[in-house]
Amino acid sequence: MTFELPDLPYSADALEPFLSQQTLETHHGKHHRGYVEKLNKLIDGTEYQGLSLHEIVVRAKEKGDTAIFNNAAQSLNHSFLWESMSPDGGNSPVGPLGDAIDAAFGSQKGFQEAFKAKALSQFGSGWVWLVVDSGGLKIVQTGNADTPIQHGLQPILTLDVWEHAYYLDYKNDRGRYVDSFLSDRVNWAFAARNFESIKAAA
Ligand code: FE2
Repeated sequence: MTFELPDLPYSADALEPFLSQQTLETHHGKHHRGYVEKLNKLIDGTEYQGLSLHEIVVRAKEKGDTAIFNNAAQSLNHSFLWESMSPDGGNSPVGPLGDAIDAAFGSQKGFQEAFKAKALSQFGSGWVWLVVDSGGLKIVQTGNADTPIQHGLQPILTLDVWEHAYYLDYKNDRGRYVDSFLSDRVNWAFAARNFESIKAAA
């Protein structure tokens, strides 16, 4: 069994002006594709074949198989990223997730400020995540390919802060990229579904 690059859940120009078609085509068609193809080569004929991406991430980390971990985690992280963004995004969350955001961050504005601060303070390549930790919401950052599931956290939303995610459109201005995501493109419906299924399983 080999892994396949998942299709984007929208057309490559659907997130403009937040992200250009060129950025999305490069990010998905070159970077994400590269992780999936490298992973397939690395696991060919190994004990990892037949495992899910999640299982590969956990086992490769335990065993110190760094290249396999990096490519499996990046495959997983990017699939989660495409769903975290939406052409119809950007409204404030309502329902149980909206209540949990107010409880954890004071308000939607408080959430946005905390999320942006984590995005800007991630030194170098990495990710910012909204996660469920012990029933409550938290914002965490991970470096390079690292992923919250590695740390027992349950992600509900992410943003990629590797330069490859925004450099063509924003150059080095990560703050403007994060602002645009938060105001126009957050897929709150996806985050709410994740939040409610984690709560239901708890
Ligand atoms: Fe990326």
